[in-house]
Amino acid sequence: MTTVLITGANRGIGLELARQYADAGAQVIACVRDPAKADALKSLGGKVEILALEVTDPKSVAALKDALKGRPLDIVINNAGVGGPQGEAKGEIDFAGWTRTLQVHAIAPMMVAQALYENLRAGHDKKLVTITSILGSIAGHGGDMYPYRASKAAVNSVMHGLSRQWAKQGIAVGIFHPGWVQTDMGGAGAPVKPEDSVKGLRARIAELNAETSGTYRDYTGAPIAW
Ligand SMILES: NC(=O)c1ccc[n+]([C@@H]2O[C@H](COP(=O)([O-])OP(=O)(O)OC[C@H]3O[C@@H](n4cnc5c(N)ncnc54)[C@H](OP(=O)(O)O)[C@@H]3O)[C@@H](O)[C@H]2O)c1
Repeated sequence: MTTVLITGANRGIGLELARQYADAGAQVIACVRDPAKADALKSLGGKVEILALEVTDPKSVAALKDALKGRPLDIVINNAGVGGPQGEAKGEIDFAGWTRTLQVHAIAPMMVAQALYENLRAGHDKKLVTITSILGSIAGHGGDMYPYRASKAAVNSVMHGLSRQWAKQGIAVGIFHPGWVQTDMGGAGAPVKPEDSVKGLRARIAELNAETSGTYRDYTGAPIAW
């Protein structure tokens, strides 16, 4: 049976990933900041195990590592994310907020990857996935949303690098944009429903291999310019 760990699984894309993997018969380890409030996850039934994880807190990541010691993981999905501060470069940027955004999007995925490296090595599928954004494309920078864009560009760099390093260990690294999705972050007017985004993401994760490891793609499989 495939075991999938998902960060930020309390709502949005993470919750839908948990739902679809559980429906498909996978063992799901759903990581959330506050398990006591994870009512939607609890209602999923199936093989969903809920663990506490604040991705920016090294102690929380260490506790997750301890809790999962010796347990093989097939797929680890770095999904937790924040919109980040919105101010533009006219004296409005919230730099403390920018730092927090970098911690969530760019640093935490590497902390999680490093903590769960042995679990991934012991897994069958050996796939590390990061849900990035098309807004991390430097080529496509629109001159706005600096904190969010910079944090996603940074994680793209980190995960591309990791794909090179971990190729020797047979771990494939996926870097996927989920589309503009109807979640709290994407808003009600977003064109893609969470179920369609996640259906695409699951297909991309299923086909992820040594050849495609480290490439930057959207949920339909289309490549994105770095
Ligand atoms: N929606 C879009 O259009 C879109 C487009 C491109 C990329 N993405 C990316 O897709 C991913 C999921 O986004 P979404 O739309 O599902 O967002 P969302 O609905 O706002 O959900 C974000 C999830 O991340 C969790 N989270 C945030 N900070 C965390 C932290 N420090 N530690 C642990 N968990 C944390 C939240 O937990 P709580 O419930 O506890 O707050 C929540 O469950 C993000 O990486 C986002 O950047 C989304």
